Amino acid sequence: MGLSRPPKTLAILTGGGDCPGLNAVIRAVVRSAVLQRNWRVIGIEDGFDGLVGTPRWRELDLEAVRGILPRGGTILGTSNRGNPLAYPLRSADGSVTLADVSAEVISNFRGLGADALIAVGGDGTLKIARRLQDLGMPMVGVPKTIDNDLCGTDVTFGYHTAVEVVTEALDRLHTTAESHHRVLVVEVMGRDAGWIALEAGIAGSADVILIPEIPFDFDAICATLQARRARGSRFSIIVAAEGAHPVGGGKTVQATAAENLGVERLGGVGALVSREIAARLEVETRAVVLGHVQRGGSPVPFDRILGSRFGVRAVELVEAGRYGRMVALRGREVVDVEIGLAVGALNRVEADGELVRTAEALGIGLGR
Ligand code: F6P
Repeated sequence: MGLSRPPKTLAILTGGGDCPGLNAVIRAVVRSAVLQRNWRVIGIEDGFDGLVGTPRWRELDLEAVRGILPRGGTILGTSNRGNPLAYPLRSADGSVTLADVSAEVISNFRGLGADALIAVGGDGTLKIARRLQDLGMPMVGVPKTIDNDLCGTDVTFGYHTAVEVVTEALDRLHTTAESHHRVLVVEVMGRDAGWIALEAGIAGSADVILIPEIPFDFDAICATLQARRARGSRFSIIVAAEGAHPVGGGKTVQATAAENLGVERLGGVGALVSREIAARLEVETRAVVLGHVQRGGSPVPFDRILGSRFGVRAVELVEAGRYGRMVALRGREVVDVEIGLAVGALNRVEADGELVRTAEALGIGLGR
């Protein structure tokens, strides 16, 4: 009788901000691990937070992932606060200190008896995954973010859903802006990358698009609006990425990293632009913040398919013992790269690239 290897136990977690398509990854991991390999899968709850203190996890069998493909968010929960490398610990006097609790995470993981951990997340989660891999934990990364700002992959799942949500909002906002002859400034997500603003702005026929990669000038914005008015258009739509900022000025922040447990919270540039335009031109303006609407709801088919492909590939990487790798899309192929590729630098819009030049050729002002 030949010696058969015992089936593996695979752990999976989702970390950072949620994103449409996370459940597609979880489902694909479970289905390919269980149906093709007869492995066991467990889900860690709330990102790396679930491996700090008493571990929080659950069995993920076929029943647990039934019907989740069209669902937004993540059935496992997530957290963008529980970074084990700088974990917030509250003392009795209420003060918070940041401590490295990675040893506790590794020991908790070992206690679960899992062979490998698949970490699905953005920049922050993948940085943690790389560090834990260096410390001897077998990790495989799966990149996610609606911002599409990760290097190493051509695109992340969740992004196309966000672009669709923003495009639909722009279509809706057109009719009310036009009826009231107003300038509507629509603030969208993306952190330090302008992908959502630029692509949804083109798809939704924006008149001005402000992105972090191109600092804006109020005179240039006003000139675009006045030129439109001279051509007979009495309303305008401006899309402002949350990280956009004026020439020589900084980003508009709701809370600094120091105030918000290490994570800078952006927001407010739409209101800033709206106020300044109302002060400079004789026009009524309104600011609309699309906020977390962009992250919620059902993933579009592209994101369901990419999430499924990434999940299947992640299990193949575990099977081959290729730890420290991250799945990625290159052209039409799903490939794998070093996790470190995703965390070194940001994937940002090229200020003079083809996409920006297309927008300008269409008559869209970039605020420069
Ligand atoms: O990174 C994804 C993202 O949605 C950004 O676009 C946005 O700045 C941030 O997360 C918001 O995070 P939170 O969920 O903490 O408000």
